Amino acid sequence: MARALVTGSTSGLGLEFGWQLAGTGHDLVLVSRDEDRLRAVAEQIRDVHDVTVEVMSVDLSDRRELERVEVRLTDPVDPVDLLVNNAGYGLRGGFLEVGIEDHEKQLDTLMRAVLVLSHAAARTMVQRRRGAILNVSSLAGYTTAGPYAASKSWVTVFTESLAMELKGTGVTATALLPGFVQTEFHERAAMSMDGLPRITWLKAPYVVEQALKDAAKGSVLSIPSVKYRTAGEMSRIAPRPLVRAMTSPNWYRRLQARSVERSRRRASRRNLRAPWQREDDAL
Ligand SMILES: NC(=O)c1ccc[n+]([C@@H]2O[C@H](COP(=O)([O-])OP(=O)(O)OC[C@H]3O[C@@H](n4cnc5c(N)ncnc54)[C@H](OP(=O)(O)O)[C@@H]3O)[C@@H](O)[C@H]2O)c1
Repeated sequence: MARALVTGSTSGLGLEFGWQLAGTGHDLVLVSRDEDRLRAVAEQIRDVHDVTVEVMSVDLSDRRELERVEVRLTDPVDPVDLLVNNAGYGLRGGFLEVGIEDHEKQLDTLMRAVLVLSHAAARTMVQRRRGAILNVSSLAGYTTAGPYAASKSWVTVFTESLAMELKGTGVTATALLPGFVQTEFHERAAMSMDGLPRITWLKAPYVVEQALKDAAKGSVLSIPSVKYRTAGEMSRIAPRPLVRAMTSPNWYRRLQARSVERSRRRASRRNLRAPWQREDDAL
């Protein structure tokens, strides 16, 4: 039976990776910070699927703790066949509002952990001549939406180059670039997405299913849904000043402000016809 190690597996995309991989006969190693939540997820998956589920409570931004995952990936006795570098989060506030330690922690989670774990997994997998690495990046990486977007840009480019280096080894690397997905991500980052049309949202089960199909085919990039593949192409060829104007930091605050403004304008055009507005003196 193949085994998959998934980081950030207590909620959102990572949780869905856990379920779908268990459903397709993978033993699991689940990695996240929240130990209680990890144990509960493992128990629920074991109840439904006949697979083994290990849990590792690890903060990936902590170098010592990350080393434990690195060691697990090189275990020759119970090897890992698929690494899903999924854990990630956005910060609450713009670049200048957030302290530098928090920026560094985010960078260590979004980039350093991906670098270190991909290195450990790829080396071991190449020796066994089989395996796959799936790095969860984001379409945000094509935009200029702050350090988060810059980190995701790094994940995409890094994975593309790793895929080329691994050619012919029996090991593949795939970058997943989702658009907006309904998970805990935006709530955790205190991002109000009120102004975003409902059609923009994707559901985690769909995104994960597409990503696993693309990874199984050995595709280098996976962009679930035609609308986001089109948006991805457009943002790649669009003039950079336009991209900067549309996606500069705190874009979601501007989005929300615009949506509030639109609602107020719509409301003010309506005639309320409330009883207290009557101008008759027949009272
Ligand atoms: N949702 C979207 O619209 C969207 C779009 C594009 C890309 N993405 C990317 O998709 C990935 C998954 O995010 P999501 O949307 O599923 O968000 P989510 O529901 O908030 O899940 C994030 C997961 O990462 C874990 N995590 C966060 N920091 C960690 C750390 N330092 N060490 C270990 N685990 C950590 C969290 O678990 P614990 O709190 O238990 O540690 C949680 O399981 C991220 O890389 C994100 O950037 C999301």
